[in-house]
Amino acid sequence: MTETLERKATNVHWHEGDVTRNDRASLLGHKGVTIWFTGLSGSGKSTVAVAVEKALAARGVLSYRLDGDNIRLGINSNLGFSAEDRQENIRRVGEISKLFADTGVVVLSSFISPYREDRDLVRQMHEAGDLPYLEVFVDCSLEEAESRDPKGLYKKARAGEIRGFTGIDDPYEAPTSPELHLHTDEMTLEQEVEMVLSGLQARGIIA
Ligand code: ADX
Repeated sequence: MTETLERKATNVHWHEGDVTRNDRASLLGHKGVTIWFTGLSGSGKSTVAVAVEKALAARGVLSYRLDGDNIRLGINSNLGFSAEDRQENIRRVGEISKLFADTGVVVLSSFISPYREDRDLVRQMHEAGDLPYLEVFVDCSLEEAESRDPKGLYKKARAGEIRGFTGIDDPYEAPTSPELHLHTDEMTLEQEVEMVLSGLQARGIIA
C-alpha cells in the first residue's frame, strides 16, 4: 500500500540552527522520544497515555499527548478512515511526533494505526532522524474492547451505522516485535504505567 511519497516541493534545503538537540535536552533535563501506542479502539491507548503523562509530569518530565480523536478534530480533520486516509493520518502524525521528540519532549502518540507498513514507516522516520522510538502494543481482545465500547462505536459498527470499523469490518495488523506489550485485559493501569516508565529508564531517556 505504501509507496514512496512524491515530494512535490523542489529546491528546498534543510536549514540548520545553532541550538542543538543536546542543548535542548540540557534545558529540559531529559531527551525526547516517541512512544507509539497502537491497538484497537477501546483497547486503552488513550487511558494509558493520560496516566503516563501524569506520572511523567510528577517526575518533572515534559510530555505531550497526540491522540487519534483529538488530531482528527484538528490538523487531520480532512482525513477519513479509508486505508489511504489512515496511511496519511499516520504519516503526518509520525512527522509531528518526530518534531516534538526532536524538541526534547516525551511524545505519547495514541493511534489505532492498524497497518504494520504505516507503523514501520514512522519507526523508519525516527531511525533516520536518530530519535528514540518505542512501539507499545496496547493489546486487548476484540471481545473485551467491544464490551467496554466507551464511545458506543462498536454498537454502531455492528448495526451497520459505521462502515470500515477497525476489528469489525476493517483489519488490525498486530505488531510482531513491539518494544513493549501491554495486556490491558490482564494488567492494572498502574502496572502498565510502570512498564512504560521502566522502558524509558532502561533506555536512559529519563532518570
Ligand atoms: S487510525 O486508524 O487512523 O490510526 P485513529 O487512531 O486516528 O485511527 O482514530 C481512531 C478513532 O476514530 C477511534 O478511536 C474512534 O473513536 C474513531 N473512529 C471513527 N470511525 C472509525 C473507524 N471506521 N474505524 C476506527 N475508528 C474510528
